[in-house]
Amino acid sequence: RRTLLAGLLLSAFALTACGKKAEAPAEQAASSAPAQATAAAKEYLVGSDASYAPFEFLNDKKEVQGFDVEVLTAAAEKGGFKVKFVNTPWEGMFATLDQGDRDLLASAITITDERKKNMDFSDPYFEARQLIAVGKNVTDVKTFQDLKNKKVAVQTGTTGDEVVQKLLGKTNPNIKRFESMPLALKELENGGVDAAVGDNGVVSNYVINNPQNGLATVEDTKSFAPEYYGFAAKKGNAEVLAKVNAGLKAIKADGTYDAIYKKYFAKK
Ligand code: ARG
Repeated sequence: RRTLLAGLLLSAFALTACGKKAEAPAEQAASSAPAQATAAAKEYLVGSDASYAPFEFLNDKKEVQGFDVEVLTAAAEKGGFKVKFVNTPWEGMFATLDQGDRDLLASAITITDERKKNMDFSDPYFEARQLIAVGKNVTDVKTFQDLKNKKVAVQTGTTGDEVVQKLLGKTNPNIKRFESMPLALKELENGGVDAAVGDNGVVSNYVINNPQNGLATVEDTKSFAPEYYGFAAKKGNAEVLAKVNAGLKAIKADGTYDAIYKKYFAKK
């Protein structure tokens, strides 16, 4: 497990270190300090579907916290802007950018070509993959293909939904769609489906932290391609993304990103 996570971490670094945008954000970072000192830093409203631990979830005070929150908050400090997180349902979230209700989305969003037609993304900040959850006594699910004739729960409109559609067919009634990942996993616990498919960090976090619920995970790195999370902004909002990227670059360079990553994903 440690090796896998270390590998993820390294590739996250490599992604940005080798990015061709390396020059522009560096200048931004250098000039953001005086800007911050003279003018009040701009505050951006950030939408997060806070049912997605450990990336975004609500604490006792109903504030959004998690890995994404810490990464973007640290990036904001370096990039010379402020962030205010607002719990925002996954469904309809992308539309809030165009409507001007949110400036940014921090919601473990996978950067995809399809989504890039409608919104812009920051540099990638996390590598993920789909992961299968099944009941812990299930023995006939060893690969993704083994779900072919089974009922599968996903969160609507996620990359998990997309991969399952490819396997089962878009309109297959065996795909059960839920508005949040915890609801999809609850359905699995209740026996309404045979499996659930979702982002590895979230699925494994749930399975590990709810041992009484009798679930297990099945990895299939051959069937599932790596995915990269990015912070999303309204198409054309280059200003906010330049600041986010400058901040991301700075926190990756000074060890802040690494520390946050370890806090959430180091083997305990
Ligand atoms: N990474 C997946 C996607 O982009 C799932 C993201 C769901 N995020 C959330 N906070 N519910 O489709």
